[in-house]
Amino acid sequence: MSGDLQKEIARARDLLAGARRVVVLTGAGISAESGVPTFRGGGGLWRSFRAEDLATPQAFARDPRLVWEWYAWRRSLVSRCVPNAGHAALARFALERPAAPGASGGAPSIRTVTVVTQNVDGLHERAAREAAGASDPAPALPLEIHGSLFRDRCSRCGRGSPAPATVDTSRVETLPRCASCGALLRPAVIWFGEALEAGVVARAFSAARAADACLVVGTSTLVHPAASLPIVTLEHGGSVVEVNPEVTPLSELASVSVRQNAGDALPVLLAGEGLRV
Ligand code: OAD
Repeated sequence: MSGDLQKEIARARDLLAGARRVVVLTGAGISAESGVPTFRGGGGLWRSFRAEDLATPQAFARDPRLVWEWYAWRRSLVSRCVPNAGHAALARFALERPAAPGASGGAPSIRTVTVVTQNVDGLHERAAREAAGASDPAPALPLEIHGSLFRDRCSRCGRGSPAPATVDTSRVETLPRCASCGALLRPAVIWFGEALEAGVVARAFSAARAADACLVVGTSTLVHPAASLPIVTLEHGGSVVEVNPEVTPLSELASVSVRQNAGDALPVLLAGEGLRV
């Protein structure tokens, strides 16, 4: 390990250890080591597929069968993946409630962690449930600001429903329909040109404003509003720790950038001993 990387890790651990409120923003890179393809870069989904054909309301109106075929393929791919060491370390970090040092030397307070993810793969939730065991996984459950591959909602009335185990995409007639109004169901993910769920976004930004530290893992920071979360933390006096093997537009603003894969970096950055006080 280079001296620079060692210094970055030590600095990042200090910033996270000293934070009472932590907001975490994750992107496709945290799931890369689980075998889930990212969107941009080599092997990225948007290199082989056109988003405008598959991930817009217009594409669904034009050819719902094709859109469902793509999402059914992604569901089956992700179903075969499991959370990696990065998801697991983050889940444990969010579930632990150690006392963090109080502000300006004041009394210690309990650390709170809010996990915000752009991922629709459900791997944070699976890691949270695994890490919690018989305890409550809620503190480690993420705000899924781009929705979830594993829920559906009605394309007309908006009613939500759990995703069925399989979808027959052979014909439009076999696609799933809303139990309430009979219109076609669609995956409950946010498509290009669609608004994010206001309540979820508000909770994410409130956490970013209050955070002493924002940990940003595996995102190209190109898609807003998610990419604005660390900027909001910086504007409110917090620090930003980035974990990404590549340089991103956030790198020059980040307090520290750890150039490592999430599965290697997070267990070290978030490992209990360094962070307990
Ligand atoms: P991207 O595919 O744009 O970026 C993935 C990032 O992960 C890149 O910066 C990589 O360098 C980094 N990366 C790759 N492997 C990694 C690893 N093992 N550990 C850590 N980092 C790694 O994915 P997102 O930034 O998540 O939106 O993309 C944002 C949004 O764009 C997605 O949520 C999706 C997409 O269009 C919607 O579908 C609405």
